[in-house]
Amino acid sequence: MVTVWSRESWRSKTALQQPQYGDAAAVAAVEGDLAAKPPLVFAAEARALHAQLAEVAEGRAFLLQGGDCAESFADFSANSIRDTFKVLMQMAIVLTYAGRMPVVKVARMAGQFAKPRSADTEVRDGRELPSYRGDIINGAEFSAAAREPDPQRMLQAYHQSTSTLNLVRAFASGGLADLHQVNQWNLSFLDGNPLRERYQALAHSIHDALAFMEVCGINSANTPTLRETYLYTSHEALLLNYEEALTRQDHLTGDFYDCSAHMLWIGERTRHLDGAHVEFFRGLNNPIGVKVGPSMQGDELLALIDALNPHNIPGRLTLITRMGADTLGEHLPALARRVQSEGRSVVWSCDPMHGNTVKAGNGYKTRSFDRILAEIRQFFSALRAEGAHPGGMHLEMTGQHVTECTGGAYRLSESDLAKCYQTQCDPRLNADQVLELAFCVADFLREEGPAAP
Ligand code: PEP
Ligand code: CO
Repeated sequence: MVTVWSRESWRSKTALQQPQYGDAAAVAAVEGDLAAKPPLVFAAEARALHAQLAEVAEGRAFLLQGGDCAESFADFSANSIRDTFKVLMQMAIVLTYAGRMPVVKVARMAGQFAKPRSADTEVRDGRELPSYRGDIINGAEFSAAAREPDPQRMLQAYHQSTSTLNLVRAFASGGLADLHQVNQWNLSFLDGNPLRERYQALAHSIHDALAFMEVCGINSANTPTLRETYLYTSHEALLLNYEEALTRQDHLTGDFYDCSAHMLWIGERTRHLDGAHVEFFRGLNNPIGVKVGPSMQGDELLALIDALNPHNIPGRLTLITRMGADTLGEHLPALARRVQSEGRSVVWSCDPMHGNTVKAGNGYKTRSFDRILAEIRQFFSALRAEGAHPGGMHLEMTGQHVTECTGGAYRLSESDLAKCYQTQCDPRLNADQVLELAFCVADFLREEGPAAP
């Protein structure tokens, strides 16, 4: 039975992965404060992203979504935002030019603070405390005080998101994304990178193309698309108190949008059909995503698609597969066949991170570049074999030179992990690794038929 949706209708359903706040009045006060604050994004922007994702759904564009596993209050800096912005732009240029596909850019940023956990509590040396659930909820330090969920953290997350978004908007429209800068801003970044020559050859081709356009009278001064871009924001809308408070009714259309980000997704652990997250999401008009892990069955997927996108609107729903390089080949073909044969329009995007996490011999949580690439390769080949468009990829990545994932051109090994392991949560691809990945994926995009196994 379909009941009437409202911003708070999720409250009558089971909400998994939520904190147990001690003081209900304090939570209500923060929700009231948040509800009175300006939205982070504007509904028309979410509609613009929706329209671009419709292009992806129809096979005419590619979605690049990436950023931190979890943003942190302590590691908040303009440099790290700038570096992630730059590397996303570089990847987008590689994918657009070499892959011959327009790229829709969406950051896991400006709101990616809440984390689902496999257990509610963590035990260290016989002591049991609530698990760390992301900076929007509690602190990572292993102490009773830090692990106590604090609703005030929602306000801090809101303010950090506004500053982040402000800088991202400045970069996107203030010159950092100008295609004429491509040659300039890649140089120091690529020093010593084995891909430097390949990237530079590409940058020269773009330079020549721009020079030709200039002669024809097309330049940055009269053509904003050459100097500006759009980097949309996204996060897992896990903490429903926060998301509800930022959900607003658009005055132009009367529709509801969660204005905490342009795009939101439901995680693998909270995508139950009768759960609070699916209830909350079904009433949002933002483009939305849902993670699809290896346990997903065809009937379940169809029911989820129908709950989240009952009118089958292209671009509304992105299925973010996260199966693991070993299991994708077993599960994805049947799911893709089912979705195709039932005529449902979705964006298929590949998260090659969450199914490939392993513990290194020295205890670090890591992922290997080769497994990540193998999962993307299989994703392309499985979807193409079913006549579907491999529409995008969803990465945990940073523009910093961290050592969290193994492999890549620099052949980072498990013993290198300790050098610069900084993630707040899951291991991220570093700036060199993601750029290399972009070149590989650009090659897949150019291949006409099913990608090589
Ligand atoms: C994530 O994207 O960080 C995440 C927790 O993923 P999943 O829900 O797929 O496990
Ligand atoms: Co993660």
